[in-house]
Order: sequence, then structure tokens, then C-alpha cells
Amino acid sequence: MDQLLKGTEWEIWEENIEPDLIRHNETLFSLGNGHIGTRGSLEEGFLNKKFIINEGTYANGFFETAPIIYGETAYGYAKNAQTICQIPNGKEMSFAIDGEWFQLETGTVSKHKRILNMKEGILKRSFTWESSDGKVIDVAIERFISYDIPEILAVSYQLTPVNFTGELTFKTCVDGKVSLPSTVETLIDDPRVIKREKLDFRTHLAYEENQAFLVVVTKESNLRLVVGQKINSSSNKKSHCIKTDERIINELIIKGTEGKTERIAVLTGYSSSYSESEQDKTNIKQLGETLQEVEKMGYEKLKEKHLKTMDSFWEQSDIQIKGDDLLQKGLRFNLFHLNQAAGRDGLTNIPAKGLTGDGYEGHYFWDTEMYMLPFFVYTQPKTAKSLLLYRYSILEKARNRAREMGVEQGVLFPWRTINGEECSAYYPAGTAQFHINADIAYGVKLYLEATNDKDFRYAEGFEILVETARFWMEFGDYIPGKENTFCINGVTGPDEYTALVNNNYYTNRMVKTNLEYAAKLAKEMLSRPKKELIEKTKTIVVEKNEIQLWENAAKKMNSPFDEEKQLTKQDDTFFDKTVWDFENTPKEKYPLLQHYHPLMIYRYQVNKQADVVLAQLLHSKQISQEQKTRDYHYYEAITTHDSSLSRSVFGMMASEIGEKEKAYRYFMDTALMDLTDQQGNTKDGIHAANMGGTWMSMVYGFAGVALQEDELSFSPRLPKEWQELSFKIHFRGSRLKVTLSGRQTVYELLSGEKLIFRHHNKKVSLEETLTIRNED
Ligand code: BGC
Repeated sequence: MDQLLKGTEWEIWEENIEPDLIRHNETLFSLGNGHIGTRGSLEEGFLNKKFIINEGTYANGFFETAPIIYGETAYGYAKNAQTICQIPNGKEMSFAIDGEWFQLETGTVSKHKRILNMKEGILKRSFTWESSDGKVIDVAIERFISYDIPEILAVSYQLTPVNFTGELTFKTCVDGKVSLPSTVETLIDDPRVIKREKLDFRTHLAYEENQAFLVVVTKESNLRLVVGQKINSSSNKKSHCIKTDERIINELIIKGTEGKTERIAVLTGYSSSYSESEQDKTNIKQLGETLQEVEKMGYEKLKEKHLKTMDSFWEQSDIQIKGDDLLQKGLRFNLFHLNQAAGRDGLTNIPAKGLTGDGYEGHYFWDTEMYMLPFFVYTQPKTAKSLLLYRYSILEKARNRAREMGVEQGVLFPWRTINGEECSAYYPAGTAQFHINADIAYGVKLYLEATNDKDFRYAEGFEILVETARFWMEFGDYIPGKENTFCINGVTGPDEYTALVNNNYYTNRMVKTNLEYAAKLAKEMLSRPKKELIEKTKTIVVEKNEIQLWENAAKKMNSPFDEEKQLTKQDDTFFDKTVWDFENTPKEKYPLLQHYHPLMIYRYQVNKQADVVLAQLLHSKQISQEQKTRDYHYYEAITTHDSSLSRSVFGMMASEIGEKEKAYRYFMDTALMDLTDQQGNTKDGIHAANMGGTWMSMVYGFAGVALQEDELSFSPRLPKEWQELSFKIHFRGSRLKVTLSGRQTVYELLSGEKLIFRHHNKKVSLEETLTIRNED
């Protein structure tokens, strides 16, 4: 905690190398741009024998696959696992003074310091090393991953001999022999940790205009990634390159002069596309050209561009808070990592751990649409669209999956995946989470309502909505004994401590919205002249009678409720179970999933995460305050928050029902989750969904931002602990800044057309600046 308080609220510091914190800090110091990500491991990784490290470098969407081996199999089980690969690390480098290699265990290291500067998006390191024969050198290193040229990881290494003049050797290594850090941990019973010890891929060398590249080829998925590196030094010395099929090593020998700083820039490029065949010539050529362009531009220029891009990111997306510096830092940390995690090419998405670790094997979940998409929709609509376009890109696979499952209409999106195929091996808490379909539809709706993107509305967005709606119509049914309500049976809701139930409240509520919105858009399409329709959607014809079926099912959607208790039931039989014996469950038995067989958990009323409460939060305006309050208290008492996706939701609901203290406490846990390692596994990667939850807590929770029938509204409720909160959002082509304080709320139109919205239910119009005092 002390460490966290150091530096400005833009910085995360490390002043000592503490073995217990090595991998935790590697996660915190990870850098990325949505295409590649690299953990914050020390540069001299290959010389380090002292600690268990995880140098992980990842390319979004670059994965290996292997058949899932089931002891006992059944029809329709997911067939293949997909695991994000660790790709050759481009930050391995070190130096020697007159032949003695720098190592943490020889000689003496002093003044070690690393600072992640989030404003700049740069990780900086400095230390002084005294070799065993007394030669002292100052070392300063910085690295960043470019947003402007997404293939590039750039490192600048500065060596300043303090008390000697002699030979300096500098070495970098792009190593194709990647192995995961520890085999011990992969054997523990934690479903969140990657299982396989090592992902085998082959590498071979290829050349383009004398430049050597390593081509990485996965064995089974047959994806091919190209890696290349360039080195430049201030003394203009040419490096010597040693190449094998597994490594490219660059060595530079320089005359080090006392007091004179030698600067070395290392630029590593990772191809932006992964060809599936032998034709990687184009990839090599393109990467070669990119590296040349960047080399010509030089490290400093590339950095300058990067700083500008980071400035613009913060200009759009920062949240400022007065009255709590630690929280300000925590907030920025979360936004910083969210930004680094999102694929932006329409073919990749956001892994549950971003590109910061192997946890959850690099899979994409509902986390994206329900927790992270709001941040992008309101601050970077273009990225939000790319994320949804990824879903569109896997629509055909989702169509095939629905057929495989025996549903003849529509699509079924995979619960967890990279390439679009279902790869969840444990179906009760995986495939059975059919709500993913409605979650994606919800994401589409949110994006459309907040942006008014007509192209997407009448093309990809429409198709996703229609296809998910069609799936529900066949998958669900009217059941006579259930008062002819539309029921969805045999599913698992978000709460993974309850499985395979009939009428999960969350699922049904989300499906209702899915059907209603699909119907709304389908009607719009019917009223549009044919010639205006985009070619792609001409083939999707939804007739009036089909729309009626959707509307009817939505109207008659089963909504489990216990009249006697006046509580919303999580599913049909939830209240038939005994409440989990919380009193006699010791602290060390949490998370329950690591200590109890799933069947022993499923028998009880116990929640891993928000379920009913999340559904109500998302449909807040349609549910009475009394109902939300009753349900909140009931479900809070039986929720373990064993999933990191839970606290933010409870915090937002607490704020909504006026439980200010609780809202604040939940929020602090959410905001500092990874910095303080609250879930105990930050070493495996960040909790990206929770980071999105932090943004939602601020904007949805405390500023009360909501969208209802295309109408934007605000219900500010600032915790008394803060003096001021301000943030910016995009809405339908306009941008506005909102500043909340104890006395008033100020709305400023930064660009675009005048906006009409509600402030605590009162309609207001914003043309320039609008100040509304709290008592008004
Ligand atoms: C949660 C899921 C989530 C997954 C990935 C699990 O622990 O229960 O809701 O999608 O983690 O973050």
C-alpha cells in the first residue's frame, strides 16, 4: 500500500524487487495496444535464475488449439481448447562491462526504480550496477507499445559508465523457445489458471532485404506470426546478428566512455495479421516495410507520436476526482488497462485478462459486452464498433453452433472463445450460459442508442439482433402449467454457483429486451424503401407475423417471483434450496469453487456473483425502488463475490437505492482490485471486466447515467468523501463534460449539436453550459 501512495496520481512505482511481488508487478506494469501486449517483466529475463517470472508477450487472437480430452464425452461438447500463445519476447536484453554480464545476483544493484507512467503509456526503469570488479554504470530503460503503429514494441536503453571507460556489450534476443513460468501452479485446481505447461510451436527464419525474421507457426491452429527486430545505437555501431531457427540475437559492441551516455533503441515488430497458410511472404514484406519506416522515423519521433495519442486518449476518457489521490490513481490504472486490452481490427476482442497474462487462456466472454463495452461506447465509439464487428465476424460459426445444438433458427454465440468456436469444456457453467446471446444483443442496442450509427443499425447490428431473436423463439417455449408464459429452460445465468435451471431471471429479462429491440428494428426495416437497404441485409427479411411472435414472447416472458416473500426469484426453484452455511465457512474456504465440488455448491442458495441484481440494474427504470431494495438486500447476503464481476454491480445498485456508504465501499474495492490484489490472482493477469465495472460505477453509479428509449438521463449522487467528479462522454456525435460537486452539476457541450436529456427526471437542453444546483 505504501508503494501505491508514491509518485503522482499518474504513476505506479516499484522501488525494490520483491520476490513475492514479481509476478504481481509484472501484471501491473503490462503494456499493450489491443494487438500486442507484454507483461512488465525485467529486460534481462534470460539471465535471471533467481525468481519465477512470466515474461508473457501475446498477440490478440493468436492461439493454439488442441482437442479437449473428456473422460466421458457426449454429443455436442466443445471439441477443441483454444489457448492464447506466448509469442517471442521482444524485450529481452542485457549488457556486459568488459565481458561481465549484468545480473541481479552478481555485483551490486542499487537505486532500482520502475515507474509506470500512465499518462504517457511508458514504463520506465532505472538502476545503478557495480560489477564485481568495481565498475559502476547507470542504466535507464523505457518501453512502450505504439498505438500509432500497432505492430511495434519500442525499447530505449541508456548506459552511462560512471567510473570507467571500457567495452560495453549489448545483447537482445527474440526467443522462439517460449515456455510458461511454473509447472507447479498449473497443476492446482483453479479453473482460472492456464492448464497446459507449454504451447509448442515451430519457428523458422525468413529474410526480406537482408533483414531476418522469425516466423512462428502453431502446430494445430496453423496460425503464422512474423517477428522482426531492429537495433540502433547513438554511436551508430552496427549490430552483429546471430540467427538460428529458434532465435535472433543481436549483439552490439561499443566503446563505453566515462560520463558519456550510450543510447540504444530496440524496435520489435509483430505482424498485424496471421496467415493461415504457407503464404506468409506478404506478412514478412509488410512487417519489413513497417520496421523500416519506424527505424527511419526513429525512436524519439515514434515516442512523440505515442505521447500525443495517449494525450488524446486521456482527453476523451479520463475521469477526474477531487478528494482522494489513491482513488484517482486506481481509476486511471483501470482506464489505462482497459484501453490497452481492446482489439481494434474487428477480428479480435478483449480477453478476460486483457493481454496481460495467461489466465482464462485469453478467451473472450460476456465480460466484453456487459462490463467493458459501455466505456468504449461512451468514450471511444469507434473501438466499441470494432468489438461488435468481431461478434459479427463469428456469426457464421454461431449459426453452425445453433444447428449443432439442434436449434434450426438463429445463432448461438459461444460462451468462451477466441476464434468463434465454443471452447468451454465445462458445460454447466459454460455453454449453458446462453445469456451470452442476449448480452451481445444488449451491447448492440447500447451502441446503437448511444451513437445512432445508421450503417451498423441497418446492417451488422440488425443481423445480430434478428439472429439472436430467432434463436430464442425456438429455444424458448410457452408452457401451459406456467400460465402460458414464455419460458427458457435448462440454462445457467451469470451466477456460476447455480447451474442448469429453468427461467433464470437474468436470462429471461435480457431475452425480453433482445426480442423487443429486434422487433423495433425489424419494424423500422419494413418501413424503409427497399432501395435504401444495404445489400447485406436485403436477404434478411422479417415479416410482420414474425415480429408479432417476438413481441408476444417478450410480453409473456416468464419472470420468476415469490409472492409471499415479495422477492424476485433467481430461477424457478431457487428458493427451494437451503441457504449456504456462511457462518461455518471459514475464510480460507473462499473462493468456494476451489474447495467444494460444484454439485455441493449447486444444492444451496449461494451466489458467486450478481445475477438478479445485475438484471435489475440494467432495467432499473422498469422496476420499483422498493423491489430493487428488497432484492438487493436478499441477494447481497448470499453473495460471495468470488467472481471479480460482482462487486461493481452491487456498488452501482447500492448507489441507486440510496445506500451511499455501501456504494462507496464497494466502489473502492472495485477501483483498487488489481492494485491491491484483492482477488489474490492478479499475478495471472488483470481483471478486465472489473475495470470496466469501475468506469460504469462512476458514470452509471454515481452520475446516474442511463439510456431509456433513446433518451439520455443523469441522476447525480456524489459520495460525501469526494469534492468533485468529472468525466466526458460522446453521445450521438456530440461530446459533453459533466462535473459533479456537492453543490451542483455542470454540463458543458464540448462539440456537436445541442443535446436534450434528463437531469433527475427533468428535461433539460444543453447548448453551451448548464449549471444545475443540487437543491434546484
Ligand atoms: C465469472 C464469469 C466471467 C469469467 C471471465 C468467471 O469467474 O463467473 O462471469 O465471464 O470469470 O471473467
